[in-house]
Amino acid sequence: MITNLQDIVTLNNGVKMPGFGLGVYKMEDGQSVVQSVKAALKHGYRLIDTASYYHNEEGVGQAVRESGIPREEIFVTSKVWNDQQGYDNTLKAFEDSLEKLGLDYLDLYLVHWPVTGKFKDTYRALEKIYEEGKVRAIGVSNFQVHHLEDLLKDCKVKPVINQVEYHPHLTQEELKVYCEKENIQLEAWAPLKRGGVFDEPIIQELSEKYRKTPAQVILRWDVQHHVVTIPKSVKEQRIIENADIFDFSLTKEEVKQIDSLNRNERSGPDPDTFV
Ligand SMILES: NC(=O)c1ccc[n+]([C@@H]2O[C@H](COP(=O)([O-])OP(=O)(O)OC[C@H]3O[C@@H](n4cnc5c(N)ncnc54)[C@H](OP(=O)(O)O)[C@@H]3O)[C@@H](O)[C@H]2O)c1
Repeated sequence: MITNLQDIVTLNNGVKMPGFGLGVYKMEDGQSVVQSVKAALKHGYRLIDTASYYHNEEGVGQAVRESGIPREEIFVTSKVWNDQQGYDNTLKAFEDSLEKLGLDYLDLYLVHWPVTGKFKDTYRALEKIYEEGKVRAIGVSNFQVHHLEDLLKDCKVKPVINQVEYHPHLTQEELKVYCEKENIQLEAWAPLKRGGVFDEPIIQELSEKYRKTPAQVILRWDVQHHVVTIPKSVKEQRIIENADIFDFSLTKEEVKQIDSLNRNERSGPDPDTFV
């Protein structure tokens, strides 16, 4: 379990990745994303999660370059969007992302969604990019167990990460166990369910008990589950707040109480019907 904001998890290819980071979905390109990413880096974050779909890779790259922090100390993730999938399209999409970010390599590149009939060709392109050394690790996002089983039959390079919607209303137990067995790190998107779990009585109770905000209780629960988490905020105070979770610990019983809030309820699309 990570014990501070810059602590790392070791991925199945040996690459070390910070276990906590900033998501930038819905941050506007330009000053908004530049300021937020710079604030996060200033306050100790070292993992930034973007995607071509977010249309803010330029701003993320600008913030990384202007932060004054050596490039190799920052872990940058991007993703290939659904309409960019297929082998050749993905090779091009990767180059576009690199150019927009203004970087000469990525730390992690993900297949954003398992597009039916295409995701294996997309992943083959990721393998080529990986073999060429332009990305330090490759993985997937929004893959269910059956997508992973299908991919693992054919792939040469095992995905290091599966980034999925994960929060107290969607605990993804079967997928989590499968990923642990396969040594694929689970990463939580929408870890706060975009505010949709703060009012749960148990979250409120633990928030009072530990004098922490509901967001902090939930993000601490992620960490204790060994799930990499990337809450998004454009507000500097919340960026600081979200990462201030390493001075308290939930008991095993409390972790289970939060687990029991599961309703298999998504805030985003279902991977089996979306693409
Ligand atoms: N792979 C995928 O398909 C996928 C899909 C969705 C997201 N993601 C990634 O996961 C990241 C996180 O997910 P998300 O952005 O959808 O949702 P989230 O992190 O669960 O929630 C973000 C929302 O919560 C608010 N918030 C943040 N910290 C808060 C706090 N301490 N107290 C109260 N409200 C707070 C933010 O508002 P303010 O900004 O106003 O603070 C924002 O509205 C994304 O940014 C993206 O990088 C990946």
